[in-house]
Amino acid sequence: MKVGIENLQMSYGKRKVLDIPALEIADGKMAALWGDNGAGKSTLLRILAGVLPGWTGKIDYGGKACGSYLKGVTLVHQTPYMFNCSVRENIGYPLRLRKEPEKEIVRRTDEWMRVLGIDALAERNARRLSGGETQKTALARAFAAEPELLLLDEATAGIDLASMSCIEEALRTYRAQKHATILFSTHSREQALRLADCVICLDKGKVRAENEFFTDRVYSTGD
Ligand SMILES: Nc1ncnc2c1ncn2[C@@H]1O[C@H](COP(=O)(O)OP(=O)(O)OP(=O)(O)O)[C@@H](O)[C@H]1O
Ligand SMILES: [Mg+2]
Repeated sequence: MKVGIENLQMSYGKRKVLDIPALEIADGKMAALWGDNGAGKSTLLRILAGVLPGWTGKIDYGGKACGSYLKGVTLVHQTPYMFNCSVRENIGYPLRLRKEPEKEIVRRTDEWMRVLGIDALAERNARRLSGGETQKTALARAFAAEPELLLLDEATAGIDLASMSCIEEALRTYRAQKHATILFSTHSREQALRLADCVICLDKGKVRAENEFFTDRVYSTGD
């Protein structure tokens, strides 16, 4: 799904935290959102996911305006929420809400638990997991929902090296299988370069066209 942003502005009280005249993420691309603490990454991801009101501007989801097409969009939060039930039930939860057939729920849940290496946690209560286990469960839940636009807020923060490459591989697999568009925030320049087709650099709420770290992979802002 192609994502187009026009004149997006967001303020908390009187403080403007996002000001993006124009930005586009092409269909099927993996884009990194990179910036310092407080740059506005989570705010932008939450707006794109349709869970943060109060912004002005225009967001186009593959030709459809915001509001009419959020079913195909999933956000994995910086601190994911787990329901008070098993890992397996947490992963299947969005599919059950959508009334997908039980067989399909089991198939997708098993598949993504295997890919993310959390099969052994299937029957554990999801509220009693470690930070990394919680992140992987949240990712499996997002993949199983099969969004066309997958938004990830620091999905590998605090994750060990082996799990990080497992998650990165899962992202590549998902993108290739579903031809999904993926936008992930990260503080890691290495991860952005390793994983993304392009990097969006946020600096105090603005997209920087030039960045010394990402010479040829920075998105044009359209100015
Ligand atoms: N609910 C809120 N009320 C007021 N200000 C907020 C709120 N949420 C975020 N902010 C402010 O908006 C700015 C952008 O915050 P945001 O969480 O989007 O940054 P971020 O790039 O995700 O940072 P980090 O890397 O630390 O996660 C910050 O200055 C933050 O203090
Ligand atoms: Mg954040």
